[in-house]
This record gives sequence, C-alpha cells and structure tokens, in this order.
Amino acid sequence: MAEFSLTRTTHPTSPAVRQAALADPGFGRHYVDHMVVIDYVEGDGWQDPRILPMSDWSLHPAAAVLHYGQEIFEGLKAYRRDDDSIWLFRPDRNAARFVNSARRLGMAELPEDLFVEAVERIVALERDWVPAGENEQSLYIRPFMIASEALLGVREAKSYRFSVICTPVGPYYSEPVKLWITPNYTRAAIGGTGEAKCGGNYAASLVATEEAYANGCGQVLWTDGAEHKWVEECGTMNVMFVTADGELLTPSLGSILPGVTRDSILKLADAHGLKAVERPISVDEVLDGVESGQIAEVFACGTAAVVTPIVGFNSPQRGVAVVGDGQPGPKTEEIRRHLVDIQFGRAEDTFGWTRRV
Ligand code: COI
Repeated sequence: MAEFSLTRTTHPTSPAVRQAALADPGFGRHYVDHMVVIDYVEGDGWQDPRILPMSDWSLHPAAAVLHYGQEIFEGLKAYRRDDDSIWLFRPDRNAARFVNSARRLGMAELPEDLFVEAVERIVALERDWVPAGENEQSLYIRPFMIASEALLGVREAKSYRFSVICTPVGPYYSEPVKLWITPNYTRAAIGGTGEAKCGGNYAASLVATEEAYANGCGQVLWTDGAEHKWVEECGTMNVMFVTADGELLTPSLGSILPGVTRDSILKLADAHGLKAVERPISVDEVLDGVESGQIAEVFACGTAAVVTPIVGFNSPQRGVAVVGDGQPGPKTEEIRRHLVDIQFGRAEDTFGWTRRV
C-alpha cells in the first residue's frame, strides 16, 4: 500500500446539490469533490501520491502534452449494489492496459497496483457520489496521464502527471445507433496507436463523427487504413456480430482497442449459446450478411456504452442497410443484461471480475 496524503476540500458539495446531480447525471456533467494526483520525475520515480480538492491545474504553456499530445487515459465504473456496497469491475485490466498505452506513447509506466489503489481510494472517499444503480447509473472513473515537462524539442518527456477524476453517469447512448462507413477517414494503421488508449486517437476521430452525423448516423464504423476493407471498431467502442448460426463474431486484436467489455463479453458468449470467434471481418461480409440475414444482430460495447445495439449502416457504396427488423436483438439484450447483472451483483460472478471497494 502506498502512502496517500489527503487534503479535504473546504467547499464540499452539499447533499442536496449532489442528490440533484445524481438524479440526472448525464455524462461528465458533474465531478466529485476530490481527485488523485501522482507526479513522476525521471530519476526519482512516482512521487507523493495525494488526494486533493478538485480544482484547476496550472501547467507550463510548453508542457509536452499541449504540443505533442503525450496523453493516455482509462475508463472504468463503480457500481452501487442493492445492499449499498460499492464494487469495481476488472480494474486490474484497466491498470494493465494503461501500462501498455504508456509504453506505446513513450511515457512512464505506473505500477498496476498503484493504479488500482488510486482508483479504490478515490471511490472510497467519494462513495456518496456513486448513484443508486437505477437505470444502470454508476460512477465513471477516468484515470489519465499527461506529459508535464516543459519541452518544445520532440522527445519522450521526463516528467508526467497521473490523475484520477470521477463523474456520476447514466447511459452514454440512450438509443440504438446506426453506423456510417466512412470512405475518408481511418482510426488506426498497422504500427500506429490503435491499441493504445490515447487522446490523439479520439481527437482524430471527431471530424469523421461529424461526417457520420451528416449522413444520418450516430457513429462511425472504422475500417483498416490500407484498404478500407476490414472492420475494426466503431466510434469509441468495439463491435460484435451475432450470426444466424450461433457465432459471436468480432474483429481480431491488432490495431483496435483491447476493450475490457469486449473481453468480458467474449467470455460470456458460451452462456448464451454463442461461439466466440475473433477473426478479420470484411465490410462486404457485414453488409452481405445484414442483407441476407446471416448477420442477425450487431452491437457495440465499451465501458461507457456498455452494450449498445447497432440497428443499421449507411455507406456511399451500398446506401442504407437495416439490421434485422431495425430493433435491438434478443441476444444483444440478453448479453447486456448478463454483464450488467454481474456488475451490480445480481448474477453470479463466476470469473471473479468484481472487486469490493
Ligand atoms: C469508455 O468506454 O470508457 C471510453 O473510453 C469511451 C469514452 C471515450 C466516452
């Protein structure tokens, strides 16, 4: 256990204001009263783990993150169960992915146990901010790290700041989503940063998302950078296909985000009579399959989005394609329910994924 110091805010949110926030949390609209901060300096290592009142930061205008985008982040949630206990879901997986992202971005590696401890400490302190769990509300936890060294030369920075902030949230998508197959943009390329959870991947996605909106869709279906032929992921989530012959198909890892929800759902597939298959999937296979009924259901998955039904596609080559009858499919609903029930302690956690705070 690391020594964390705690400086309490002198202006805590009043219970009435917090209750109002929890009643309609949105996503990232309200923040808890404290944050974790741990700094890293090359040669000295990780310094002075502390919990501070939530506040603005001061950064040197030459801080490397502001110029060259050395930034990584994670997303996980804390769930309040019916007995009022608070639980995390597979925080060790986020900690491990954070190390991989740091390696790819040439950043300092935060020890995995320190990551998990930081998350547990802030959630324990802010447990009153964890919503009651109705409508699948939870506390979204955002660990992140920036290069803090003032540096205009392009090289790996020598100082970093790790922080954890939290926000109560409801569902990220309130409705099923249609996907735009963009001919113009790519999220990742072989050898790029597709597997890392870094801010730059999301910055580069924004213009394509606007293109999706302009074409009547809520998100982008990303395809490979070389040929625009192979499906990668969608929006900020992984994508899965339920086939008519009982497979749960998803693109192999490589240039996509190795999602914790993705991994969990692949492990749950069996319990739903589905065979989990990870392999390259072409856009033509998807659109032909949707047209013929061979692909019966499509859904996206991620921490924020949980399991979001995909009910249609649009593309310049093939126009609009509707999945099934245009409604969320039964396997999608079942899998979503199973996952959420494990998270909220209503279904047996046979894999040992949940961790009490
Ligand atoms: C998450 O699911 O945690 C994400 O990272 C999505 C977020 C960018 C909204």
